[in-house]
Amino acid sequence: MTTNVNDGASAPYLRRQGTATQLVVDGAPFLVLGGELHNSSSSSLDYMQPIWERMVALNLNTLLAPVSWELIEPEEGRFDFTLVDGLLRDARSHGLRLILLWFGSWKNGMSSYAPLWVKRDTARFPRARLAGKTAEVLSTLAEANWQADARAFAALMAHLRRADAGHHTVIMVQVENEVGVLGDSRDRSGLAERAFAGPVPQELIDHLAEHREALGEELRAAWEGCGARRSGTWAELFGAGPETDERFMAWHYARYVDHVAAAGKVAYDIPLFVNAWLSHQRPEHIPGDWPSGGPLPQVLDLWLAGAPHIDILTPDIYEPNFEEWCRRYTRRGNPLFIPEMRFTEDGARNVFYAIGQHDAIGTSPFAVDSLPDPSNTPLARSYAALRQVAPLVVAHQGQGAMAGFLLDLAHPKVTRQIGGYELEIALDEIFIFKAEIGYGLIVATGPDTFVGVGSGFKVTFRPLTPGPAIVGIAAVDEGVFRDGAWVPGRRLNGDESAQGVAWRFSDRGISIQRCSVYRYE
Ligand code: DGJ
Repeated sequence: MTTNVNDGASAPYLRRQGTATQLVVDGAPFLVLGGELHNSSSSSLDYMQPIWERMVALNLNTLLAPVSWELIEPEEGRFDFTLVDGLLRDARSHGLRLILLWFGSWKNGMSSYAPLWVKRDTARFPRARLAGKTAEVLSTLAEANWQADARAFAALMAHLRRADAGHHTVIMVQVENEVGVLGDSRDRSGLAERAFAGPVPQELIDHLAEHREALGEELRAAWEGCGARRSGTWAELFGAGPETDERFMAWHYARYVDHVAAAGKVAYDIPLFVNAWLSHQRPEHIPGDWPSGGPLPQVLDLWLAGAPHIDILTPDIYEPNFEEWCRRYTRRGNPLFIPEMRFTEDGARNVFYAIGQHDAIGTSPFAVDSLPDPSNTPLARSYAALRQVAPLVVAHQGQGAMAGFLLDLAHPKVTRQIGGYELEIALDEIFIFKAEIGYGLIVATGPDTFVGVGSGFKVTFRPLTPGPAIVGIAAVDEGVFRDGAWVPGRRLNGDESAQGVAWRFSDRGISIQRCSVYRYE
C-alpha cells in the first residue's frame, strides 16, 4: 500500500496521524459524510438536477457518483468529458465534494460498462470463461484489456487534474466496482487455465514470506498446511479447491486493477480505492456465489501484495455483523472507508461506530437519491450531528482518545478505555423507560473531559491512573458546535444525569453533550 504523497502539495492525499489514516483535503483532515447515487443517476446531468438539493438536505458533504468507461470513451481514443465537467460544476455550486466511481472493465463482476468497441472485439479483448460459457466479463489475464482500461482511466484522471486541480472537488476515486467472477470460482479461459497450471508469481510468494505473521488466518493456514512452499503451482502452494481458485482470481484482479490505478496516478495522484461485494457467510456458499477474486477479507493479503497503487480496500456492508466487517477491513494498516452500506435506521447508527471506533475516513450509504424526504431521515439526523463534531473527531483520530459503540438488548453493554478512564457504556434507563437501542461516539477531549454524541446510552467511569478511586460527574452540558466552537445549552445535573450517577443520552433523538468528571474518596 502506498502513502499518497502528492506532487502538487494541495491535491487530496492520505496521511498518518497516530494509528489512523486521514484524508487531507485543502490542507485539513476531512471526514467523508457521504452517500452513493444509484448506478445510472449521474449518467444524465438533467436527471441529476433535482437530486443535488436533496443531497444537501441529507447533510452530505460528499457524493459518490459513477463515471463509466462507455460514456467517456464511446469510440476508441475519442474522449468526452461533458458529463464529468457537469458533475464538477453542479457539485461545486452545491458545496459538495465528489468521489467518482470508475465503472471501467467491471461493475458487480460484469463488463456491462465497457464501451461497445471493447465488448464487440472479443478477439482483441478476451473474455472470461465461466461455468462452461464465454461470459460478458473481460478476462483479467489479457494484457490488452488492462491496457485499454488504463488508457481510459489515465485520460479521466488527466482531465480531473486539468479541470479540478484548483478546486479539489473530487477527493478520491474508486477503481472498478465490486470485481470478481460470478457463477464459477475462477476464469477457465485458455489464458487462465495456463496461468493456473503455471507457477505462483515469485513476488507474491516473497510477500507471503515477508508478512507471514501478519497474514489472514485462512490464507496462512492454507499456505502453511501445504508446507509454506516457496515455489509451485497454485494448487501445490494452497491446495486445490474453490478457495484457491478465489486466491488465484484475487491476485489477477489485483494486478489488473493495479495497472489501471498506476496509470491513473501518473496522470493525477489522489487516493484510490476498490470496493468489495461481501460473501453471505452461509456454509453452502462458495467463491463464485459472491464475486470470486474481489477484495474480500479472506484474500485481503493477496490484494495488498498485488495492488500497491490502491490506497484502501473497502467493504460494501449490507450484511449483518457490521462491527465484525469493520474489524476485518482494518488489518495490516488498511484504513476503513465504507463506500456502500444501508441508509436505513441501522445504517444511520452504524456510521457512529465506524467513525468512532475505527477512525473511518468516512461512510456512504447507497442509493441515497431514492430517499423521498431526505431531510427527515435517520441518516440526515446522524450526519447533522457528525458534521458538528467532525473537527473534534479528526483532531483526535489515531490517538486512542475516541470510542464508538452499538448497543441493543442482546449486547447491552461495552467498555472502552479512553482519556485515563474505563468507560462502561450501557443501554440507558430512566425510571421505567428503558432504551432498546443505543449508539454513539465519545471523544476524550482533555484532562477529565469528554464529548459524546449519540442516543440511548449511559456512561459510568472507572479511573485507570493512580489517585482517588471514585469518579464523580462534575458537570454535564448539552450543546452544539458552531463552526467547531462549543456552544453550551442546558446544564444537565438533575434527572438527566440521575443526579450525578451517570452521563446519560436519552433515546429520543441524538444529542451532543460535554461531560467533565472529578475523583474523590
Ligand atoms: C452493490 C453495487 O456496488 C452497487 O453499484 C449497486 O448495484 C448495489 N450493489 C445494489 O444493491
